[in-house]
Amino acid sequence: MYGDIVILSGAGISAESGIPTFRDSDGLWNNHRIEDVATIEAYERHPEQVHDFYNGLKIDLQKARPNPAHLAITELQNGYRNGTVSVVTQNVDLLHEKAGNRNIYHIHGQIDQAVCMNCGRITDARGEVTTETLCAGCGMAATLKPNIVFFGENLLRMNEVDALLDKCRLLIAVGTSGAVYPANTFARIARYHGADTIEFNLHATVNSYDFDRHVIGRAGETFPRFIKELLAES
Ligand code: OAD
Repeated sequence: MYGDIVILSGAGISAESGIPTFRDSDGLWNNHRIEDVATIEAYERHPEQVHDFYNGLKIDLQKARPNPAHLAITELQNGYRNGTVSVVTQNVDLLHEKAGNRNIYHIHGQIDQAVCMNCGRITDARGEVTTETLCAGCGMAATLKPNIVFFGENLLRMNEVDALLDKCRLLIAVGTSGAVYPANTFARIARYHGADTIEFNLHATVNSYDFDRHVIGRAGETFPRFIKELLAES
């Protein structure tokens, strides 16, 4: 019996929907250099190349469908009576939304948005964005950046996430390598505030020691099973 629950998701939760992760053998960062497509310096040096990368990724992400792990979260949110269930995701895909999840916090941004580097306005960007695209707020060209947190930028919605981590009684990490700060500190923070912590992954991760329990296997199989048990207990 727990109170509030925070689910921290990473690329591994979307792997069974056909979306490549970042650091596995077929991962995005094996085929692209972070310095070329995921830093502010890259965006300033060659914005066309950065837009091309995210326009291509967007097409792939838009085609993807949620898998049983995403759907299990909706089941939990519909059936859980002992507190709120929040989803803090590092993923820029929209599979949590497509699965009907609620209380979603995209701390690394989302692929269907752009942010203007001139006026700060966030706009819908489901289609292609180029250096020619005008900002709907200030009307400037060449100022739109994918609304994705690049290395060296601040994460989004962190005040709200900090409050969730303080209050939750169970933190569940699904499909994240624990390689990226600060998401890789969330389990430690939640545990410090008294939460139980559980990790779902294909194998142990670099911060496995922050978790009380480890469930090894494909999240699409292990996670829905766990959710059923959790709902039966609650
Ligand atoms: P990673 O690619 O670093 O890690 C994915 C994790 O998912 C690995 O630990 C895999 O073992 C695990 N995994 C893969 N398939 C799985 C499956 N079917 N079931 C369970 N686990 C599985 O991805 P993240 O941890 O999400 O940032 O990476 C964090 C951030 O690094 C990303 O948000 C991204 C990247 O730079 C941005 O794009 C802003």
